[in-house]
Amino acid sequence: MKKKILSVLLATGMTATLLVGCTGGAGGGGKKVGVAMPTKDLQRWNQDGQNMEKQLKEAGYTVDLQYASNDINTQVTQIENMIASGCDVLVIASIDGDSLGTVLAQAKEKNIPVIAYDRLIMNSDAVTYYATFDNYMVGTKQGEYIEEKLGLKDGNGPYNMEVFTGDPGDNNARFFYGGAIDVLNPYIENGQIVIPSGQLDFDTVATANWASDAAQSRMEAIISANYADGTKLDAVLCSNDSTAFGVTNALVANYTGEYPIITGQDCDIANVKNMLDGKQSMSIFKDTRDLASKTVEMVDAILKGTDAPVNDTTTYNNGVKVVPSYLCEPKFADVSNYKTLLIDSGYYTEDQLK
Ligand code: BGC
Repeated sequence: MKKKILSVLLATGMTATLLVGCTGGAGGGGKKVGVAMPTKDLQRWNQDGQNMEKQLKEAGYTVDLQYASNDINTQVTQIENMIASGCDVLVIASIDGDSLGTVLAQAKEKNIPVIAYDRLIMNSDAVTYYATFDNYMVGTKQGEYIEEKLGLKDGNGPYNMEVFTGDPGDNNARFFYGGAIDVLNPYIENGQIVIPSGQLDFDTVATANWASDAAQSRMEAIISANYADGTKLDAVLCSNDSTAFGVTNALVANYTGEYPIITGQDCDIANVKNMLDGKQSMSIFKDTRDLASKTVEMVDAILKGTDAPVNDTTTYNNGVKVVPSYLCEPKFADVSNYKTLLIDSGYYTEDQLK
């Protein structure tokens, strides 16, 4: 069953990517790297951009960092400009993994290597490497959290659960969803987990642009149709923090029962605060400093003509090729370990979380 779900996901998946550099040569030395990020709206991409810019500059590169307000055409234009202005490598966190084929063909024609950053770029043979976190593992950890907290292995239940995942144009969303549902599906099938809304398939539980307000509206509708009579909601599987944030807002305003388990991902500051307030149960910590440093190593290797760091050469088929990937390790975070993970490591200051 696990294999089956994942293979369906992979067959239908889409993504976003990081496009790096342009002109080749021995790393640093003023070579120019174009870094295309999806949006400033979510905290994580601001951190990714800052980390990339800082670490690339420290390594001696010139950086052209652009954010595209989640607008696909804007991102395409930004990448065209990076190509035209002589970038040596492109690092791209795509908005829609399927929309960059034409512009990346231009990059390939000019021998500009492309690194897909965090989100895979689909259906393009111009993608050189992919740097990301183990996206399936993110979902597995979220599913296992719900499994453990509800005592599902002990046969407890039935429990009521609802599901929110991310943007259908983001290949990662299918991995997060697949990892979690592969853990939880046996309990859905045997009745220990019930989905009162009946909304479970990927397309129904997807959230366009990962938008908090869209997740909030959907949760509000689910509450009024299924929980207004006092039915207890036990868990909400949310693939990331922006969807968890919308779900939490809907619950705060419209649900009076005991608070459900809510999962998340990214450890965004607003969500860590919600965790400390008991409004979100857990998040997944993806240290964007690690992702940036792996990506900078890839840029260096590409420009020096050496082998880039890669630890997965089978998982990420973008429809045209299996893209050699480096998967960083996602970590589970909740109130018990956030200090070590987030504060002691220097990711946030204590003040930021007040
Ligand atoms: C990233 C997540 C993020 C989501 C929304 C995904 O591609 O991997 O970390 O929460 O996009 O921006």
